[in-house]
Amino acid sequence: MADTVYLNGEYLPLADAKVSVLDRGFLFGDGVYEVIPVYRGRLFRFEDHIARLDNSLRAIRLELSKSADEWRAIFEPMLDSGKDQYIYLQITRGYAPKRDHGFPEHVVPTVFAMCNEIKPFAGRISGVKAVTLDDTRWQLCHVKATALLAHVLLRQEALDQDCAEAILARNGYVTEGAASNLFAVIDDQLITPPKTNEILPGITRDVILELAEAHQIPCREDVIALEALENASEIWVTSSTREIVPVVELDGRIVGDGEPGPVFQKMDRLFQAYKQSLA
Ligand code: PDD
Repeated sequence: MADTVYLNGEYLPLADAKVSVLDRGFLFGDGVYEVIPVYRGRLFRFEDHIARLDNSLRAIRLELSKSADEWRAIFEPMLDSGKDQYIYLQITRGYAPKRDHGFPEHVVPTVFAMCNEIKPFAGRISGVKAVTLDDTRWQLCHVKATALLAHVLLRQEALDQDCAEAILARNGYVTEGAASNLFAVIDDQLITPPKTNEILPGITRDVILELAEAHQIPCREDVIALEALENASEIWVTSSTREIVPVVELDGRIVGDGEPGPVFQKMDRLFQAYKQSLA
């Protein structure tokens, strides 16, 4: 766990970092966040993460504008160049003296950041089991909001079924994972659902699409019907903290030959090499 964290302009021991119980993040989940990998002290795809943060802030009408350089200066004292880490950044609308759904008039956003070690996710090598569940989330899934109750319940439902992730479906097509984006290989083409309000525009997803294009891996952004997953030779879920994770069993059925597939092996190699090239 992080020893020193950042809170509203100060660096503090984690145990001393406190916010009011009247903070709107606590009362309403009124805030947004980012998770930014840091490989050997280097912030990964940093401008992309900050651009997504700015979009999230704009979407919830929270006025706070810092340049990427200003954010970098905040994070840098917490980084350790000998480790792989991630920054967790959370911004809430702040403290208001009275609980009221409408925005308070004069309010100062709460800004919190901590840096933790990235532990390699074992499922990336072995593959994981996943389960499909109804996407019960709201209509603004492109916003990285701290109000994650639906995501939490969906992930826990997957864990209760001895699965690592829930793959979510809405109106007969799949959207993404409870905390990840989704890729499938169908008829030798890598497919991922398009960016809409129904998915988080994942940074890992962007990197994979760029690598596929650069290395002539047939790939497209397209709607994936839930039943089309039955014909997928590979399924992956992707995120900043777990990277690319092959799903080898979905709803109790084996995917492909039950092992991480060849397109995954290739993409994972490319992804690791890309990380190395930046670090
Ligand atoms: N979540 N979709 C959802 C709903 C997510 O929560 C995440 C990541 C992603 C993948 O986005 P990215 O590749 O930018 O990490 C997609 C983070 C890791 C989290 O909530 O901890």
